[in-house]
Amino acid sequence: MTQKLAASAEGIATAAEFLRAGDLASFPTETVYGLGADATNDHAVAAIYVAKDRPQFNPLIVHVADKSEAQRIVDFNPNADRLAEAFWPGALTLVLPRTRDCAVSLLVSAGLDTVAVRVPNHKTAHALLRATGRPIAAPSANPSGQISPTTAAHVMDGLNGRIAAVLDGGSCTVGIESTVVDLSGPTPVLLRPGGISYKDLLRVIPSLETTSGSPDAPKSPGMLERHYAPKTPLRLNAMTAKIGEVLLSFGPDDPSNSLNLSPSANLTEAAANLFAMMRDLDENNAAGIAVMPIPESGLGQAINDRLRRAATA
Ligand code: TXA
Ligand code: MG
Repeated sequence: MTQKLAASAEGIATAAEFLRAGDLASFPTETVYGLGADATNDHAVAAIYVAKDRPQFNPLIVHVADKSEAQRIVDFNPNADRLAEAFWPGALTLVLPRTRDCAVSLLVSAGLDTVAVRVPNHKTAHALLRATGRPIAAPSANPSGQISPTTAAHVMDGLNGRIAAVLDGGSCTVGIESTVVDLSGPTPVLLRPGGISYKDLLRVIPSLETTSGSPDAPKSPGMLERHYAPKTPLRLNAMTAKIGEVLLSFGPDDPSNSLNLSPSANLTEAAANLFAMMRDLDENNAAGIAVMPIPESGLGQAINDRLRRAATA
């Protein structure tokens, strides 16, 4: 059962304890309710995908209390400085390169070299960030494919029993998700229209583009997937490594002492390890990475989706 917590000092402290322990807690922001996890905890982040029943690893937004905290996670540039100055706290998410010593889980980035960061404009969200003392990764708190929740009751409708708690902060004032702007490339690009309008953004960075030239047609999420692919070719459903290959194994029947996504065949653990292990193996300059079969159930679908994309990139 999911605990419904009042947005009191006590409720906030309880939600923060859950987050620090690696459990999931939903919390209000001015846009929509977020499904929060400790962004530095791979397992907690993997649990977000389980709770949402997401068939794919979409990258997640990391919520922080202020710009200086965001700067520990991503490298700012002049456009990012201007947008943060103009719109934070608020309904604007900035996609920027991960810092060298970024503590945020690679699963949050879904394998990309960037992190999306946002400073929400909501008292309860800030109190929770303070009490937790960690950056909080949070997609909208709805099961995959359903609409974003703007009340604690909506969150309960979709996720009751799947998360530890929901902090009830009443109705969200903005009611639509944040605008997402990618500042990691040579030109700033609007990825998702949202709470802050394209026109308002243009006033601050006139060079802002939309991929299609229209703010109504943002880059499809699928396009993001191409950003990350290992340099080393991937071979899927392999039982052993061939000469020159390194093995990414799964389950107790590991034929070697290679990296194992989950020796106990636990898919949440495998998801938590996936991106970090792929990167490790990619750095070996091996002829190939052979990946053992992963069952196509639960989180296995998202893991296999990502592996197939990496194999065909
Ligand atoms: O208002 C909001 O943005 C809410 C509240 C909870 O903050 N969150 C939210 O998260 O809508 P979600 O996961 O439902 O949407 C995140 C969006 C997706 O379109 C995702 O593709 C994009 O942000 N995104 C996240 N990280 C990214 C990255 N590193 N690069 C490109 N896009 C990213
Ligand atoms: Mg969403």
